[in-house]
Order: sequence, then C-alpha cells, then structure tokens
Amino acid sequence: MDSTSINPMTTPIKTEAGGLWTDFHSHCLPGMDDGAGNLETAAAMLRLLGEQRVDRVVLTSHYYPHREPLPRFLERREEAFRQLEQAPGRDSLPQTCLGAEVRLVRGIGEQDLRPLCIQGTRLLLLELPMAGYRPWMLEELQNLTYSLDIVPLLAHIERYLAWYTKADYEALLSFDELVFQCNMPSLMERKSFRFLYGLMEAGYPLVPGSDAHNLDSRPPRFGEASAALERSRKGRALLAHLRESTRALQG
Ligand SMILES: [Fe+2]
Repeated sequence: MDSTSINPMTTPIKTEAGGLWTDFHSHCLPGMDDGAGNLETAAAMLRLLGEQRVDRVVLTSHYYPHREPLPRFLERREEAFRQLEQAPGRDSLPQTCLGAEVRLVRGIGEQDLRPLCIQGTRLLLLELPMAGYRPWMLEELQNLTYSLDIVPLLAHIERYLAWYTKADYEALLSFDELVFQCNMPSLMERKSFRFLYGLMEAGYPLVPGSDAHNLDSRPPRFGEASAALERSRKGRALLAHLRESTRALQG
C-alpha cells in the first residue's frame, strides 16, 4: 500500500537506529478495561515505557462495539485521559495520544468508528476474534476501508498463529490496505519471530506495541525485547523494519 497516503501523526516520531520508539498498542488508561486499574499503575506503566526508550504511547483501551454504545465509551475515555494528564510528574512521562483497540465484529462498518482512530491519523487498531479465520472478517475490513476511509491496523498479528492456517493468513494478507502491529514480547519467541520476519521480507508494514496491561503479569517489555533482538543480524533487521514502518506512517 502507499503509506504516504496515511495522515501524519501530529508530532514527530523519533525512530533512528538506537533511537526512541512509539508504542502503538497499550492499556495504560486508568480504569478503562483490563489494563491499568488506577492512576498510580497507569503512571508507573508510562514511566516504565519511558525508561525503555518509548517516547510516545498510543492509549488503546478495548472497545467492544456489540457491548457499549460508542458515545459512552468516548465519554469514559475522555475522563480517564483527563485523569492521566493530571498524574503527579506527568511532564516527565512519555507523550500520549488516544486510540482504541476495537474488536472486529460482523456489521462493524455500520457505525462511524473514525473517532477511535489513532489521533491525527486514519489508523484504527483492530483486534480480530480469538478464533479461526472466516471470510466475513476480510469483508468487514474492506467495508471499513472503503466506506469510512479508515486504514485498519491489525493488532498482534502473530497471535493468530494459534488459529490460522497458512491459507487463512494468505487470504487476509491479500488485502493490501492493511498495516500490522506486533507485540514486542512475541519477538522473543521463535515461532512468532519467524512469522514476523517473513512479513517483513514480503514487504508488509509492521509497527510495534507493548500491549502492556499492568506492572506484573503483562508489563511493558520494549526494552527487554529490543535488547534481545539487537544481538542477532535478523533481529536488527526486524527492528530496523519496525522503525521504518513507524516512520512511513508519519507520511
Ligand atoms: Fe491489547
């Protein structure tokens, strides 16, 4: 796809070699979902991400279109964001911007989900169902793209290795308007790494996310994963691709 057609993010993303990262997938907003339960944890997660060389964090709380009206979700998100902005020591934490992790359901394109795109972009982080691939999923992604002018950013694309066959992935990847996000901890697992490396070799845009939910069971692991990848030639190549894809989304 032509990545220059994506609206630029509102502030520059520094992604030079050894530079800083943008986290495209996080659950740091307090009290929104199964992520940070309170402001203290939310601020600590952001602090940790900053220590791991992340200078920009997209806040992508779960949104389930079949469970909650969009206006209600937007209200809750605004309130949680206001709280986070008032956290003690806010100025020393990474920059943040709003987004959401939206579950792909049948009929998703019937409502206008553009307010959930990553601020300043047409990128919408979408989570596929944790189940086998079905053709309706691709149809819904195409609907979103063509009717709402959204660029689908598929969350943790490596996660579906548990459910999808090679043919399933091929069907999905045949739609060349998609952008992909991988979870940094997955890069330390052999099977996921091999899959994501293959995506890179095939030229698919791939950006990183922590998918951090808390400080203990699912903490930010940007630092650990990037340090592990720096140790091998293929790892460094994949890190460079993540940086390049991030840069391309700036327009
Ligand atoms: Fe997530």
